[in-house]
Amino acid sequence: MLEIVNEEQLTIRADNKSPFLNGAFMPNSKEYTADTESLEVIGDIPADLWGVLVRNTHNQVHEPLGKYHPFDGDGMLHAMYFNKGHAEYRNRFIHTTGFLAEKAAGRSLWPGILEPEQRAYRGWGAIGAMKDNAGTDVIHHAGKLLATMSQGSEPWRLDPITLENLGPDPKLAAVVGNDGIAGEFKVDTRTGDMVFLNYPESPPCINIGITNAIGDVVDYRRIDLPSPRWPHDLGITENYIIVHDLPLFFDPDLLKEGKRELRFFPNLPSRFGIVPRQDLHAEVRWFETGPAFILHSANYFEQGEEIVMDSCLSFDPKGPGVGEDADHNERIMAHLDKHKTKTRLHRIRLNLRTGETSQQLISDEIVEFPVCANAHKGHPYRYAYASLFEPGKWLMNGVIKFDLELNKTYTYHYGENRYGGEVHFAPRTNTEQEDDGYLVVFVQDMKEDRSECVILNAQAIEEGPIASIVLPERIQTGTHACWVEGERLRNELV
Ligand SMILES: [Fe+2]
Repeated sequence: MLEIVNEEQLTIRADNKSPFLNGAFMPNSKEYTADTESLEVIGDIPADLWGVLVRNTHNQVHEPLGKYHPFDGDGMLHAMYFNKGHAEYRNRFIHTTGFLAEKAAGRSLWPGILEPEQRAYRGWGAIGAMKDNAGTDVIHHAGKLLATMSQGSEPWRLDPITLENLGPDPKLAAVVGNDGIAGEFKVDTRTGDMVFLNYPESPPCINIGITNAIGDVVDYRRIDLPSPRWPHDLGITENYIIVHDLPLFFDPDLLKEGKRELRFFPNLPSRFGIVPRQDLHAEVRWFETGPAFILHSANYFEQGEEIVMDSCLSFDPKGPGVGEDADHNERIMAHLDKHKTKTRLHRIRLNLRTGETSQQLISDEIVEFPVCANAHKGHPYRYAYASLFEPGKWLMNGVIKFDLELNKTYTYHYGENRYGGEVHFAPRTNTEQEDDGYLVVFVQDMKEDRSECVILNAQAIEEGPIASIVLPERIQTGTHACWVEGERLRNELV
């Protein structure tokens, strides 16, 4: 079966030369449903791979208002559902209010990140002017996918297998209101709890909340900040939530004039606030380390009297200075090029007894989008996986596995002009061993003009793919993804 179920009318002009709307970033217009009876499969799909890989994408539909940023595009999910050696692929636009309003208008109605002052309509989340594109993060909780924009979004739900749009989660939406929920929600698969955040400018704060296994919001609180901050990540351990107050945020003086200019303040520390999961309204305990920015972390866990965070740190998160004559695309790239920001995996320790902190480099490799097995999220673990980056580009060219116990790394590069998204670990069915399973990732091949869903043996990634499923057409490059185990799909139906 291979069916085009819908096609959106793209209105991006042919002369729009934005590097984030062309080449590997060329948006898709068609929505497909297809299975491996009709798709080419190279190799054999393992029979013990059960679950769904879902990846989000900023897939712009309309000619942008003003300057385009790669985080502005409309949300589109790509999903590959595996069961008994068979697979089904689907991709769907996320029907946010903003997407539907622009579809009805046939043009862009909202500006992007770079020019929020052009706003004409209500915006959402931390910067209050953008369209809620829901194109950043995606996770599975309480039987549904939840997709949001990084800086705050209505909590958009979709069916994890069919990708049917189910609208905003009413229980979450009622609690978070216009502040929405930001990306980087964390699910503890052992308890079923999800921890989420948002970070509105007014009042300057981080709000955190906990949703239980059936989707009820059990608690929500505000943590006040000195000025509006721009955190991205959030951590959970068995007993704690870790919030970030990092020295990369909108210049407070410019913000008073309504201008949003991200600045790195190298004289300010990185602060981590610890809150007990069982006592969300307890006083926040703050820990400090040196100035740095963290976009993502592989995991957080408790070890004795310490909280351990394995995070990708950059000590120059805006990248080296670009010339005065640099255009906005060069400025965006300086910030997104992980080789320029020199982003590497570090281990940070926060001692709950003494209040002391320490920080240690794990590996010299330039990496981002680190993950661990879902079953170990928030708990002690041994293996992390992350993406390698093409120098000078916002493109992932391979995957690295960290054995944190033996301090060893293993890498696999996708090949020339081949780029992936966030990679995820999919355990084999009926296994308890932490790395006994597969790495799954959507890869685009610019030379062959096609995309694949690639399956690697997680215990031998250097050997290359066990199997690749060729998609109906080349899909736009994207980042955040999630893996949902078949048992969670079956058991979390609520
Ligand atoms: Fe993120």
